[in-house]
Amino acid sequence: MSLVVFPFKEEDPEVLLKNVEIALAHPRVDEVLCVGASEDRCFAETSAAAPELARKHGKSVAVILQERIGELRPGKGDGMNTALKYLLEKTEHRRIHFYDADIVSFSQEWITKAEEAADEGYQVVRHYFPRSSTDAMITWMITRTGFALLWPRTALPWIEQPLGGELLLTREAAERLFSDPRVRRQSDWGIDTLYTFSMVAHGLSIFEIYMDVGKLHKLYGALTDLKTMLIECFAALKGLKGEDVPEGTRHRIEYPGPVRQEMKEKVGYDFERTLHLLRENWSDRQETLLELFPRKVREGMLAAREYPRFSFMDEEAWAETYLVLLEHFDSGDPDWVELLFKLWIARVLQYTTAEALRGYDHALHYLHRMVARYVHRALVGVNP
Ligand code: LAC
Repeated sequence: MSLVVFPFKEEDPEVLLKNVEIALAHPRVDEVLCVGASEDRCFAETSAAAPELARKHGKSVAVILQERIGELRPGKGDGMNTALKYLLEKTEHRRIHFYDADIVSFSQEWITKAEEAADEGYQVVRHYFPRSSTDAMITWMITRTGFALLWPRTALPWIEQPLGGELLLTREAAERLFSDPRVRRQSDWGIDTLYTFSMVAHGLSIFEIYMDVGKLHKLYGALTDLKTMLIECFAALKGLKGEDVPEGTRHRIEYPGPVRQEMKEKVGYDFERTLHLLRENWSDRQETLLELFPRKVREGMLAAREYPRFSFMDEEAWAETYLVLLEHFDSGDPDWVELLFKLWIARVLQYTTAEALRGYDHALHYLHRMVARYVHRALVGVNP
């Protein structure tokens, strides 16, 4: 029987409690655990409502604060790892599910599909779902790109949503992840990268299941909202750079279904506000750091201080940029942080105008082929 976990931080308690109740009503679920980042209003309301929900369903509902387990900024990583620790030390449940607390489209189907895939013997089940063509820009430009360039022979580049927070682990998979010191130290937004990396590195079998309802979460304003996540996700990848990953993971991906028009028309971020970011927070030192990059990138970025420029940051320029970043980026250095942010903004704007503007189907096909071309580049080299 299974434990369902909702890590949360300043969420709408109504949405969280509704999701807790959906999980409690599922026949496969024995217990629900809510892990709060701090004692905020959502924590207080959820704690207050838990005993009544537990009584109503005859099952346990625990609401706990996340522990300090990792070494980086205390964030989502500590929350998820606290749940693994709870599972392993306090319970005997055979499986653990994670769901982000803010999913408004949560239903029993999320749990049922994951349980059925695990019944086939997979150790990890990951949910994936349609996302807008201009959403998921860290996923595509940072995580999948990095996985393709660094571990082209493994399953890593082919994981659909490597930053996804909806997944099931068997107890043995949870043990493997929690005993990995690389996973335990990652207390920040890098945790999703580390879970994904570690499941493949440990050779666990993975089934990715498709949820066509998607995860109607709110989209972003200017891409500044994503800055911390971007930096922590890239730093996590850079930290893993020299690690060995075996090739032989059993990995199955459920074929996706048709995507609703609403999702195809959704705009992922505020284009005009993001354009401005290219001109912000420059320093002399950042200009010096640009000397490490290919000429086209250096000159393009320098010109972007004056007037928005980004068409130079095409797929190949981004690969070259990425390799320089893997070598030199330092997340403790504010100039590197600013520069990575602006380089990524240039890449996202270039992709948006050159590919996403051509429509959803074109854009998604482009992104998948981009990953395949990066894998090819890493295995075979750049064409002359
Ligand atoms: C991503 C973040 C933006 O997946 O949700 O890239």
